[in-house]
Amino acid sequence: MSDLGGAPKCLRTPTEMHRWRDENPVKLGLVPTMGYLHEGHLSLIRRSCVENVKTVVSIFVNPTQFGIGEDLAVYPRDEERDLALLTEMGVDAVYIPSSDSMYPPDFQTFVSLEGLTRHLEGASRPNHFRGVATVVTKLFSVVHPERSYFGKKDAQQLRVIQRLVTDLNMPVEIIPCDTVRESDGLALSSRNVHLSSEERKVAPLLYKSLQKARSLFDNGERCGNLIRDAVREILSQESLFEIDYVSLTDDQSLIEIEGLIERPGLIMVAVKLGSVRLLDNIELRF
Ligand code: PAF
Repeated sequence: MSDLGGAPKCLRTPTEMHRWRDENPVKLGLVPTMGYLHEGHLSLIRRSCVENVKTVVSIFVNPTQFGIGEDLAVYPRDEERDLALLTEMGVDAVYIPSSDSMYPPDFQTFVSLEGLTRHLEGASRPNHFRGVATVVTKLFSVVHPERSYFGKKDAQQLRVIQRLVTDLNMPVEIIPCDTVRESDGLALSSRNVHLSSEERKVAPLLYKSLQKARSLFDNGERCGNLIRDAVREILSQESLFEIDYVSLTDDQSLIEIEGLIERPGLIMVAVKLGSVRLLDNIELRF
């Protein structure tokens, strides 16, 4: 909780953030966000507030994880509303750096991972994970959290960050948090605000296709191709969906499962709906 129960301390440069951390040598949770907060973010923040002495939320629309022609310029932003929500939540500090303070003109150090980032989102969004890994490394190195909270909706991002902290021996525990959904099943995402009313109506079909996969699996189906095909068939029924991938992988390595499913799997889908890229996934557990 913030010390006086008021607005969180706003830290706008890496130096201010470093100083605040030095003055607050306690168990700290970090919730990295790009702002335009929704219930999914709030659920991560709530959990961090319970599990740590203090919580920092970062808000930074990270330009290096957007490709040319992607939605950086129109990514939804509302700092005033975000700060009001964070005040209500009682977070201790908000790290809200400017782009210039994160990436000064002579910036030239990037963090990139190899195999895990080549397929799925990485194939459609070259350099996306390089941007994510770089900004998360920068956040961890100024905030020094003991724990950091990430949503399972961005399944590949979560695995990338888990790999990053393991490979670079970062002393941060990554806490995966369940996807939060609208009542019709659509996974929450800041980008949903860009869906037209017609697109919004059909968007829950994404989750329905995943539920079909789960029901086949729970009823004993173990053929990966059959499950992938069933999901693809449901998605193909909606002409507004432009399917990017339907993937059934090993839950941890994200290597595609060929043949029978004999270990925990993850079924992931990505579609373009109008101007919005929608992602979702569910775990297939024995
Ligand atoms: O998931 C997000 O919002 C972003 O990718 C993250 C982790 C905050 C890095 O910019």
